[in-house]
Amino acid sequence: MMRDRIARVALATCADFPDLEAPERLVLDPLRDRGIEPVPAVWDDPSIDWSGFDLVVLRGTWDYAERLVEFMTWVRRADTVTTVLNPPEVVEWNTDKRYLAELARHDVPIVPTTFLAPHDAPVLPTSGEYVVKPTVSAGSRDTARYLAGRDDAVASAHAERLLAAGREVMVQPYVDTVDDHGETALLYLGGRFSHAIRKGPLLESGAAPTTELFAQETIDPRIPTTADHAVGDAVMAHLTGRFGTLLYARVDLLEGPDGPMVLEVELTEPSLFIQSDDGAPGRLADAISGRLG
Ligand SMILES: Nc1ncnc2c1ncn2[C@@H]1O[C@H](COP(=O)(O)OP(=O)(O)O)[C@@H](O)[C@H]1O
Ligand SMILES: [Mg+2]
Repeated sequence: MMRDRIARVALATCADFPDLEAPERLVLDPLRDRGIEPVPAVWDDPSIDWSGFDLVVLRGTWDYAERLVEFMTWVRRADTVTTVLNPPEVVEWNTDKRYLAELARHDVPIVPTTFLAPHDAPVLPTSGEYVVKPTVSAGSRDTARYLAGRDDAVASAHAERLLAAGREVMVQPYVDTVDDHGETALLYLGGRFSHAIRKGPLLESGAAPTTELFAQETIDPRIPTTADHAVGDAVMAHLTGRFGTLLYARVDLLEGPDGPMVLEVELTEPSLFIQSDDGAPGRLADAISGRLG
């Protein structure tokens, strides 16, 4: 549809990256080529009038995890004066990894997960390596890998600290195929598969959680297997049925004994790794353009 003026699209980011990180900036020129004015905008900057945008796309709001209520309030409020994508109900669903249990109920293979609520005693595995992390988190923050029998005291203290702060905790076996095979992320733009990447392992055995806004990642292009595609497509089919077509989605997989398992689904502010595929910046711009007018 033709617009009678240039559409303005806010790319919502955080105060640490007010102009977006370099890879995310790769969508700016393709948007301009499509007659759209892209504006990086810090989500918690009180001086911004969100009604001045035709669309707000969540791109780099990486500091929301410890401020979830404030972030959700902003997403919902902004969505009353413009359109926020992905939409508030999707963000709400996605910011708490208890959605993994829902996917499992719909026969999607997930990394085996035990959830602990704040009143629960932290019962931890008695053998093998495992991961403790909050259900609301991003960038590997507050996430650590432990060895049963060696790290029990530290692991319990970690879980208890999160639970005492009112946060829910998840415990998973450490999926050690990540050490060489890595993690596979499938990127979907406008509801369709776009590209994939390999992410190297992030957790060192017994090391404390990262103190950065996000842990440093090693990213390479990857061609997914048929099984990877099947799991990613099953997640997308479930999401599309629940929420309609999503502007962007990332499905992260670890390789288990019986094939790929979902580690997480990123629908809020995922790195989309558009730097890893020549066509991806244009596909993201097309998907955004398709949501205007
Ligand atoms: N069960 C697990 N087995 C192996 N590695 C894990 C596991 N859980 C998390 N990790 C590592 O920690 C990183 C961050 O965990 P993730 O669940 O993706 O949370 P987020 O990215 O939201 O912080 C992953 O990219 C992976 O390297
Ligand atoms: Mg992750």
